[in-house]
Parts: sequence; C-alpha cells; structure tokens
Amino acid sequence: MTDAPPSTLLADQTAYAEAVQLALDAAAAYYGDGTSTLDDDAYDRLVRGIEAYEDEHPEEVLPTSPTGKVAGGAVVGDVPHAVPMLSLDNVFGAGQLADWAASLERRLGRPVAAWSVEPKLDGLAISARYRHGRLVRLVTRGDGAAGEDVSHAIGTVVGLPSRLAEPVTVELRGEVLMTASQFEEACAKRRAHDGTTFANPRSAAAGTLRAQDRPYVCELTFFGYGALPYPDDVSETAEWLRGLPHSEVMAWVAGQGVQTTAATSVAGIVAETLEGVRERVEEIAAVRPELPFGIDGIVIKCDLAGDQAQAGFSSRAPRWAVAYKLPATEKITKLVGVEWNTGRTGVIAPRAVLEPVELDGSVVTYATLHNASDIARRGLMLGDSVTVYKAGDVIPRVEAPVVHLRTGDERPIEIPKVCPTCGDAIDASQERWRCVRGRACRTIASIGYAAGRDQLDIEGLAENRILQLLNAGLIADFADLFFLTREQVLGLERMGETSTDNLLAAIERAKAQPLSRVFCALGVRGTGRSMSRRIARHFGSMDAIRAADAGAIEAVEGIGPKKSPAVVAELAELAPLIDKLVAAGVTMTEPGWTPPAAPVVTVVTGVDGGDGGEAPATSGDASGLPLAGMSVVVTGSMSGALESLTRNQMNELIERAGGRSSSGVSAKTSLLVAGEKAGSKRAKAESLGVRIVGPEEFAGLVGPFL
Ligand code: IVH
Repeated sequence: MTDAPPSTLLADQTAYAEAVQLALDAAAAYYGDGTSTLDDDAYDRLVRGIEAYEDEHPEEVLPTSPTGKVAGGAVVGDVPHAVPMLSLDNVFGAGQLADWAASLERRLGRPVAAWSVEPKLDGLAISARYRHGRLVRLVTRGDGAAGEDVSHAIGTVVGLPSRLAEPVTVELRGEVLMTASQFEEACAKRRAHDGTTFANPRSAAAGTLRAQDRPYVCELTFFGYGALPYPDDVSETAEWLRGLPHSEVMAWVAGQGVQTTAATSVAGIVAETLEGVRERVEEIAAVRPELPFGIDGIVIKCDLAGDQAQAGFSSRAPRWAVAYKLPATEKITKLVGVEWNTGRTGVIAPRAVLEPVELDGSVVTYATLHNASDIARRGLMLGDSVTVYKAGDVIPRVEAPVVHLRTGDERPIEIPKVCPTCGDAIDASQERWRCVRGRACRTIASIGYAAGRDQLDIEGLAENRILQLLNAGLIADFADLFFLTREQVLGLERMGETSTDNLLAAIERAKAQPLSRVFCALGVRGTGRSMSRRIARHFGSMDAIRAADAGAIEAVEGIGPKKSPAVVAELAELAPLIDKLVAAGVTMTEPGWTPPAAPVVTVVTGVDGGDGGEAPATSGDASGLPLAGMSVVVTGSMSGALESLTRNQMNELIERAGGRSSSGVSAKTSLLVAGEKAGSKRAKAESLGVRIVGPEEFAGLVGPFL
C-alpha cells in the first residue's frame, strides 16, 4: 500500500496495556470536554500501534481497547439512536483513497457511478429530530448507539431552524461547530466572565453544547450532512427520501431551510470519476486555511442510494464512505520563550515563542497567550511541550501544557513587574494588563510607526533619533516633527548639517502624503494600511472622517458595528494630534478623490504613457475603474515598471485602480499578479482556476494609475 502512516511501536504486553490506557484517557478528554492530552496525529499513531499489536497478538486484546469502537469507546449517553451514529474510516493520501475505492468497487462488483465529495466538518456530530416539521430533540453522538440529550441548545444554533419548510418527520444529522468569529466572541465572553478562554473552536463547541447553566450564551453553527427517515416510517416522503441520491437529499435538506455547506466555497459536489474526486479534494484542501470554520478532512461517499445499500456497514463505519484526512490543525511543540509586548494602546500581552510547527498550511512560531493569570492558571512553563492550535481564520493559540511529557528541565515563566516598553508601572487591576502610561507608553513606537515606510515614509528617523528628540523635549508626538526648526535639530548630538537638512527635507515631503497614509499614521486600533486606504477612499477628507458617526463609519467595507464606535472614540481622543497636523499643513485629502455620487472621471494618459499623465480620479465609487470589484493578490518579485514598488505600494496601486488588495489566494480571488519566484500562491491560484498575470501585463492593465 502507498503512503502508509507511521504508527507507535509497542514492544510487549505492558507497553500495549499502557498504550490502551493512554488512548482511552485521550479519547475521554477529547470527547468529554474537548480538551486534548494527545494531538490528533499522536492519537492516530497510537491507535494504529495498538491495532498492529492486536493483529500480532489476538489473544491479548483487552476489552477496553479503543480499536473498532466509535469515539474510541470513551462516551456513553442515555438517548438511543434509531439508526446508529457511526464513525468513518480514514484514508491518508491519494494512494490509500484509490485502494479504498478499488476494494469498494470489488465488493459491489461494478464501478461506482457517482461520488459525493464534501468537507469533513470539525465539530461534533448531532442528531436533530424533527416531528411534523418541528425541532423536538437534539442528541449528541455519544457511543454511536445512544447519546446525550442537549435539546436545551435549541435556539442557539445558527442554521438549525426550529421549524422546517414542510411538516415532515425526519432526523437530520450534521455537525455543530463554532465559526472563527463565534469562537472569538465566545472566548471574549468567557474571559469577561471568569478570565479563562476556550482551547479551540471544537472544544468551545463541545462545552457550549453541553452547558446548561452558564450565565452567558454562546452561539453555535450547524451544517447538515444527512437526513434519515425513521426506520418505522413508511410514509411516501420517507420512501422517496430513502431512494434519493445523497446529493439530492442534501438539496432537499437545504430547501427545508437548514444550513448545508452548499453556500460555502467547499460545497459538496458529485464527481463521476476518482480523478474528479481527487481534484475536488485538492480544491477543498487549498482553500482550507481561509475558511471561517474548521475542517479536518474531506468525506467521500457513494452518491447513489443503491450503492450505499449494497455496500452496507461494518460495526464502526459505513463501507460506502471514507474520510480523507487532512494534516492536523493541532500539534504538540515546545514552548521556547514568552515575549511581553506593549501594544499601541498600552495593553501588555504575552505571546508564546514556539519551536516552529506546521499547522494548516503555515509555519507557526508565535501564538497568543492571553494574560499573566492565563499562564498561571494553565501552569505553563518554559520548555513545556504544548498543544498548539491553528486553523482557518483563528489566530494560533497555545492550548495546554502536556504534563506527562515533562522532563524536569522546565523553568517558570517570568512575569514582568514593570512595563516591558517604558519601565513604568503596570496596571494589573483588570484581566488585560496595561502600562499606567497608556497610549503615551508607546510614544517611541507610535512615532516610529507613523514615520515608517508605508505611512509618512520619513527617511532617516530611526528609533534612536526619535528618542533623542523626545529626551530633548523637542517632540511629544509625531505631529511635532513638522514644527522642528533647523537650529533645534542641529543642536542635537551627532547631527551634522547634511543629516539635518536631509531629515528636514524628508519631513517636509511627508506633508504631501495622501490622506490614506496620514490616517494610517494615526494608528487607530483595527485600521491597518488597507483599512486606512478604504476609509480614505470612502470619505475623501479628514474633515469628512471626523464628522462621521459610528453608522457612517460602518459604511466602509470591513468595519462592523463592533469596531465602528471604537474608531469614532479613538478619533475623538486623537483630535489634538490631528489638529496639529492640519496646522502643520499636512495633506488631509485623498488626491483625485471625487464624491461617490459624482461620475467617475475617465482619463486619457499622455501619448508616451509616461510620467506626464495625471492619475485618474479615485472615488468612493469604483465602478468604471479597471480593477472594479476585483480581489487582487500579489506574489513573487515585481519587474519592469513595477520593479521599485513595495508590497504596500502595489496594494495602493490596486486600490487606486478600483480593486481590493488581499494577501491570500482563495476562491474569492479574481486575479493573481505573479512575479518571479512566485511559490505556493501561484500553485494555489492554478488549482483554483484564478486568473494569473505577470507584472508587465498587470502594469498594462493599471497603467494610468501608476
Ligand atoms: S457522514 C455513517 N459527512 O465525521 C457516518 N460525517 O468520523 C456518516 N463529519 O461522526 C457520517 N463532516 O461527526 C459525514 N460531511 C460529513 C461530515 C461528517 C463531519 C463527522 C461526523 C461523523 C464523523 C466521523
């Protein structure tokens, strides 16, 4: 067989017994409160090792062995399932998938005519029982034969309506999970309540589904993947459903108002050949890092009811379906350090430095740790083996130390006693620690940020120079730079005439930067470079931005009702700084901007197509611009007319031309600009059929905006 996965080698009966116990404990934790004492890979390796040992020594098989059992034999419930809720067998890689399909076709004695290919959602299986169209009971999978009644969650699960479109009696099966945003929100609620957070979306969903008396409510999401008439139901609808291909059953489920994956970029499809299956597997795997919910594989099923019926079931899993596993999103690695940083607003937060580990398509080296009490509560130590989680949109996070892997060399994590940035006191009265100086603590960093290449681009203003200016009392914020006199700068140590003149000239040039960069320089929380450009393009002037209330700010793409009041409040706080910038003569408009209602100006460039042409107008309304409505990603090194542009300048160019710049390729990407040494983004764009152009062709497309 090809691509056989590794397994743990068990030397003797004692090792076997220990392995069984370890697997049982891990499964109990995983299916219990959703925590993990072993990562998925380690668990799978262990179970494969147990299987191998049992094959060799069938007389020694322990009754408690997790092999061949749903949920590793870890859980039981008290509500029987009319039809058992089974597991799926796994395959790893295309070779094993082909082996599995071949053996299934041998069993059927004919080729499988249609395969359904769909994502394997990473949550908890649930049975939703509808009577006459009303949702009457929610039951977990449990041990497959009986599960736990979690009907109290009815009404908190998005996508699972309390009434179906028709008054049918049917059992729906699907996965309950938390999307990335539901997860962030749930963590914030829990942090506010008791200072703790959830380990990962899966365990957050597990805990939330079972929780009955929490003082806060967290939202969950349901995606259906099957519908079963009750075995004793002989109604016409039941008979009809039993004979439908799986793909049509799912279309019917969606028609009842229940969420399926149909509206997502990983919607189930029907493939007629194994080659088609493999293509869809590749596509789903490629977009996985951008999905707003976790998937841990791809499920491949016989689509036709007749094939399913003939293939039947083993004790643990159907023979007509298999899970193609994707790499784990949770792995164990080493915690090598903890860094403490003061954010722009004065919040002091620790972050974990990890031995690099690959998770969900990216190498993770840093992960969030929420605060000092979080570290203490979890008993983390330097050198610990820790479980790290990263999937889709979720920020990488350290879940827990794996205590049984400790060697005795672990050391306590030092908790700072003073602000790591300025050395002043820490206000530790709340869960989130802050420097007592608040925003002022970060003066050096925030001036450095404002002067940075992608903001005001003031060359020659290094951190030591900023410190010198601050210490001499010449500046207190970055607006003060614009009022520096030649004498003042010359008076500083190590400042000659040439460097003084160069610095002052660079500061003078910064006054002409467009509003988008000036706004970005303010460092308003949650508004980085691309958001600043969107805000500037939407409003056109600083006056208009300052006059906007939260509702008006929300009209900018990407600013939701949560962020908008914070933006308004911060702008009010920054009023003196902005006033100073205005007084200094810094640009407060977006060049060429026209109000959204006005017609878009079409500009004909000079015949030479060179520097002489005026840039066309940008406006709140992008229609008519060459990249209107397009999401554009840049990768590799640029050449020709674009050679000297930084990534930020490329993004500015894209947005001037009406497009949206984005850093990752996904199914939503309209265009990839791929220069030399383009790597994985190019491969991904190819697999998704995204249009790819080289730098020269792109320069031609956006020429007038260059
Ligand atoms: S079909 C008879 N389809 O995976 C079993 N399961 O490892 C039919 N899962 O318990 C299951 N996405 O919780 C199926 N599209 C999907 C799925 C899916 C996630 C889960 C489900 C099941 C587990 C099996």
